[in-house]
Amino acid sequence: MNDSKKPSRNLAMELVRVTEAAALGAARFMGRGDKEGGDQAAVDGMRLMLNTIDMKAVVVIGEGEKDEAPMLYNGEELGAGGPPEMDIAVDPIDGTRPLAEGRLNSIATVAIAPRGTMFDPGPFVYMNKIAVGPGAVGAVDVEKPVKDNLHSIAKALGKRAQDLTVIMLDRERHEQLRAEVRAAGARIRFIDDGDVAGALMTALPDTGIDVLMGIGGTPEGVIAACALRAMGGDLQGKLYARNKDELAQGREMGYDFEKILTMDDLVSSEDVFFAATGITDGELLDGVKYSSRGARTHSLVVRGATGTVRNVIANHNLDKLEKISAVDY
Ligand code: FBP
Repeated sequence: MNDSKKPSRNLAMELVRVTEAAALGAARFMGRGDKEGGDQAAVDGMRLMLNTIDMKAVVVIGEGEKDEAPMLYNGEELGAGGPPEMDIAVDPIDGTRPLAEGRLNSIATVAIAPRGTMFDPGPFVYMNKIAVGPGAVGAVDVEKPVKDNLHSIAKALGKRAQDLTVIMLDRERHEQLRAEVRAAGARIRFIDDGDVAGALMTALPDTGIDVLMGIGGTPEGVIAACALRAMGGDLQGKLYARNKDELAQGREMGYDFEKILTMDDLVSSEDVFFAATGITDGELLDGVKYSSRGARTHSLVVRGATGTVRNVIANHNLDKLEKISAVDY
């Protein structure tokens, strides 16, 4: 067997410990009305575990600017030392509000890809996105009318438009999108939060979700692009300015709000790794469950080079963990 054919390291198998630690830390905050506490616990778990991985990595998608530390900030260097040199995108909690309010669909996510391959969205928080699974790659164009996208997705999937289910955030800003999807005859699944999970569902079998549409977070867009790239799906986005000031700031900083961000713009390498762990129960992942013996987590682990998607159930012995870990589980 020549060297290029030998199986290589799967960093996603190491990343799953990162999202498990974040979820275990954050899950204690379910329904406790403390968004910041939950976020901090997830960040602490994530940082601790990221620093055990042999890599030299920089946070490209983080929790904001350095002065808002101790969150995982953009530009923060992590890892136990390289090579490889990697970019990191974190969303320690996608669904901070549902976690604090004790609702469904809160997950911890992280993605890594070779250094310099991830899109840096700067301070711009919203992106208009359209995401599909492997069956509809090449069938979407974020600039085209909703009706055209739905027809070409339906054609690619061998369905009729009325057989499609679109997942979207339930937001007032989606009033027109909602109307256009309805006019095209497709069905809609509304979610209160969590469009990373929504995007992932388009690429997983038996979720019944065909396409994610609408305006959501930019960091979530880049993370979802990493996951879909690894799973063979497709995502297009366009930065969305909330007002004229943001538009002007973007122009000054060299960001083009008219540019279509393709998968290659969002993450240009296929050598991408992604992990997510459920914090509260959701359609995609079970939340953290406690028993007298410890805690159980459910994660999804994806590696771009092979496209392998693993569901990982882990039973954690909290007594043992607490003896060796700096994190309060
Ligand atoms: P956070 O938990 O990080 O706040 O994100 C939750 C979320 O629902 C994302 O999944 C989504 O992309 C974004 O918020 C949408 O933003 P908004 O709530 O402002 O519409």
